[in-house]
Amino acid sequence: MGGAAAISFDNVSKEYLLGKVPVRVLDNVSFSVDKGSFTALVGPSGSGKSTIIFLAAGIDVPSRGKITVLGEEISGKSEAWRRRWRSRNVGIVFQFFHLVPTLTALENVMLAMEIARVRGDRRLRALELLDFVGLKDKANRYPAELSGGEQQRVAIARALAADPPIILADEPTANLDYDNKVRVVSLLRRAANEGRTVFFATHDEGLVRGADKVIRILDGRVVEG
Ligand SMILES: Nc1ncnc2c1ncn2[C@@H]1O[C@H](COP(=O)(O)OP(=O)(O)OP(=O)(O)O)[C@@H](O)[C@H]1O
Ligand SMILES: [Mg+2]
Repeated sequence: MGGAAAISFDNVSKEYLLGKVPVRVLDNVSFSVDKGSFTALVGPSGSGKSTIIFLAAGIDVPSRGKITVLGEEISGKSEAWRRRWRSRNVGIVFQFFHLVPTLTALENVMLAMEIARVRGDRRLRALELLDFVGLKDKANRYPAELSGGEQQRVAIARALAADPPIILADEPTANLDYDNKVRVVSLLRRAANEGRTVFFATHDEGLVRGADKVIRILDGRVVEG
């Protein structure tokens, strides 16, 4: 137990400015996520889950403290560095899918490969990923021509496009019906079983029960994990 950490937060605080007033959203948060684990981040609405996922992805930086991902301290790096690093190391799945509406399912997956400069036959690999999520026959559909569950599965294929060691997900099952929830959870679980680290924020108790580890936050502080 206690394998190597894929993600660690050391005394991370985050403040947002509301006008001129700083609002503390994370208060000295420390935790780690083991390599290869399927780890849940749980807490009430407004407790700071999305903030943590965005910080772990290097989309945002903390006000104080240190964030280390796969041995690399990302919190002190420039935005350009973080963007490039993210395209190769992190796949992200959001609550509202965030697919590019003017691109087909296949093109959405291929775009992530282009951004990460994945070599080889991108089209073939994108089709394999869409097959993995059960959507090979819908590869040429636009997001608006897919159900919510199908769009989320395209988003998972896209997150896996650059074969990243880390998958981050923010409420990946929040807008799905039961069957699609089960599908999305099993795809994320498979991604972890293949050796990736999967770290996800959720309200979904079913998803929490299946996790290897649960990190609980309350009002911007870690209360368990
Ligand atoms: N850009 C911002 N400016 C000011 N406050 C913000 C900003 N973004 C988030 N917050 C505040 O930070 C707190 C944490 O927000 P966050 O989105 O991380 O919560 P969450 O746990 O993901 O909630 P939910 O379960 O509703 O998604 C909230 O009180 C929110 O109002
Ligand atoms: Mg959130």
